[in-house]
Amino acid sequence: MAKEIKTIGVLTSGGDAPGMNAAIRAVVRTAIARGLKVKGIKKGYQGLLNEEIVDMEAKDVSDIIQRGGTILGTARCLEFKEAEGQKKGAEICRKHGIDGIVVIGGDGSYRGAQALSRLGINTIGLPGTIDLDIACTEYTIGFDTAVNTAMEAIDKVRDTSTSHERCSIIEVMGRGAGYIALWCGIANGAEDILLPEKYDYDEQKLVNNIIEKRKHGKKHHIIVNAEGIGHSASMAKRIEAATGIETRATILGHMQRGGSPTAKDRVYASTMGALAVDLLCEGKTNRVVGYRHGEFMDFDINEALAMQKDVSPYMWEVCNSLSHNYRK
Ligand code: ADP
Ligand code: F6P
Repeated sequence: MAKEIKTIGVLTSGGDAPGMNAAIRAVVRTAIARGLKVKGIKKGYQGLLNEEIVDMEAKDVSDIIQRGGTILGTARCLEFKEAEGQKKGAEICRKHGIDGIVVIGGDGSYRGAQALSRLGINTIGLPGTIDLDIACTEYTIGFDTAVNTAMEAIDKVRDTSTSHERCSIIEVMGRGAGYIALWCGIANGAEDILLPEKYDYDEQKLVNNIIEKRKHGKKHHIIVNAEGIGHSASMAKRIEAATGIETRATILGHMQRGGSPTAKDRVYASTMGALAVDLLCEGKTNRVVGYRHGEFMDFDINEALAMQKDVSPYMWEVCNSLSHNYRK
């Protein structure tokens, strides 16, 4: 028989992402509506081990849906990667009466959730990361806002790039994944898009493309470079030397993690937060919530972590064909 849940905990872990607050709000309010108690665990697994645990009421999540970051705080916690840390975490949950927990984070955080579930704490993961690098889901909380933030920033760089007839390399986040770069590449109409999944490190091709497009009258040349490739500053120096065209590098960095979430991030994060509570109420554990083919659904964490994901070949083709078929 499914264990009846009376008190749930909620934490955010790993890199913060816009929309995490909307998810926390949905978890708290849905749980209270189902007659459950809610405990907020501050600063991810580190806060769990330090027992930074507070009672949460519906009013505690007022006025947060529009805010970036996470009101619970987040952290990376090495101790929780060890069996001892995980055991201590499960014991602390029991001490505070927490029998179900919602973990909002990326796939590193899912491994912590998996451990808690193994130790008898019912656990549901929500995909909270700007990187979109979780294989079981087509959507992750924060990606939409991060892409929009990066897109607006790249538009601004492009204005000055055109005025000075420069080449600009703009580095976007994504850890080892190129989804933010791919989306910005298309959304900003970049001339070149470098994704870790696709780049062949043939810089001569880039140089030829820049020279060719300049001959055809392009006044700017925007290269969106993914963090997983990196080295934008040294790349800019080499490209300037090889093309004779002034080249600047801009690394957008952590601005991509902040800011008010888009409508999509607020609505999807809210829906996922509510679903996590419903799954706990059904007695489910070791599950993660995802979004696929227009539906919110849940997956076994072990299966989700074993799944592989790649850049859509068609989107990549579109991206290339739109940037490279330019003639004045
Ligand atoms: P993300 O959740 O965004 O992928 P990290 O990979 O940094 O971010 O993981 C966040 C936290 O999740 C880590 O600091 C650690 O506390 C926990 N975590 C990561 N990997 C594991 C693991 N293998 N086992 C248990 N906990 C882990
Ligand atoms: O996972 C989100 C992310 O912003 C990645 O895109 C980036 O590689 C990483 O976190 C940066 O981490 P930190 O905030 O520790 O510098």
